[in-house]
This record gives sequence, structure tokens and C-alpha cells, in this order.
Amino acid sequence: MKIFIDTANLDKIKEVNSWGILDGVTTNPSLVAKENTDFRTLVGEICKLVDGPISAEVMSTKAADMVAEARELAKINRNVVIKVPMTEEGLKATKTLANEDIPVNMTLIFSAAQALLAAKAGARYVSPFVGRLDDIGQDGMKLISEIMNILDNYDFDTEVIVASVRDPIHVVEAAQLGAHIATIPYDVLKKMFNHPLTDNGIKKFQDDWAKVPKKP
Ligand code: E4P
Repeated sequence: MKIFIDTANLDKIKEVNSWGILDGVTTNPSLVAKENTDFRTLVGEICKLVDGPISAEVMSTKAADMVAEARELAKINRNVVIKVPMTEEGLKATKTLANEDIPVNMTLIFSAAQALLAAKAGARYVSPFVGRLDDIGQDGMKLISEIMNILDNYDFDTEVIVASVRDPIHVVEAAQLGAHIATIPYDVLKKMFNHPLTDNGIKKFQDDWAKVPKKP
């Protein structure tokens, strides 16, 4: 499974990139707003850090405007992927951009029907938001299973980015379902490292190693 980090924060991207397991980055308007930096500049800086798909979202609501905005964003770097919301206008824009070989990540996906339409329109990625479904008592990971089944039935080139990840369990379950990608917040990535038995084991080994006679 590919691992993306779900942030626009350069320091967090640098830190996780140093682990050697990072395959890409997703941003969204809320994540960008936290950084208080010009959007195009920030996307360009992220592209310099990670040689992988970097999702940047259009804010227009009409297809023609989305396409125009996307074309400008795509000029920032060859790795830029255009995030387009799952709307009728977004679908039209996705079809146009796909025909121009500009990769699209259709986002704010909350149903298998939406994911099917996105794949049909030629989206390179679909982003189902599992955490936001869980937040309202629906089963986010069930949606991942449904989408994976649909994509497996046909030869769509679309990959699933499991988004709105809230904890390591989401990541593990996404991997068990064969999802192509999980985009993971920094805090969740850090939690994936931690296990008290690992910490206890390291301490025990260190303590016992201290007892091993050492030649002068
Ligand atoms: C993908 O990048 C999505 O925008 C992101 O995962 C949404 O996460 P949230 O539901 O925690 O805002």
C-alpha cells in the first residue's frame, strides 16, 4: 500500500519523508489555511520535498473554471494532482482534465455510486472520507470494501486513497481491504510507531545488555 501524508505543513512532511516510507502528499483548503502561506508557493515547496503525487484542490464550482484553475495548478510541478470535489460540474471537469492527461483526485467521496462515476470520468484517484462517515455513525471502511469490489470488477485505472483517517486501525483495515493508498495525518503516523510492549522490550534488552561483561 502506498502511504501519503495528509497535511500541508512542510516540517511534518520533511520529518515523515525522512523515515523513507512516504509516497505522496494530500492537501485540502482547510489544511492549506493552517499554514498561512500563498497556496501556489506552498504546493511548489511540497513538490520539492516529496517526489510523488501531490494533491492540490481547486476551489471553483463551475467545470470551465475548475479546468482553468487546474491547468494553472498543474504547471507548478509534474507531480501535482488536481483535487476536484464530487459534483456534476466536478465530473465534467474531471473528464476534460483526464483527456488532457492532467491527473485528478476526485474528493469528498461518501458513496460507492460517487466513486463509480469518478472512475468512469477518468479520475486517477478517488478519496472516500472514512472518518467523516464514522463520525455520523456510518461504516467508513465498508465503503472502502464496496469501492474496491467495484474497481476490481472492471479495468478502471483509478486508485483508492483512503482519506479522513482518524487512527492506525483505519490504516490497517484499509491495507487488509487492499486499498491502494492511505493518506494519513501526521499524528496518526506517529501513533503507528508506538506500542508499549516495544518500549518495554527495548528497555529490558538495554538493561540486560548492561550486565553483559565487556572486555576493556
Ligand atoms: C484528504 O486529503 C482529505 O481532504 C482529508 O483526509 C480529510 O480529512 P478530515 O475529514 O479529517 O478533514
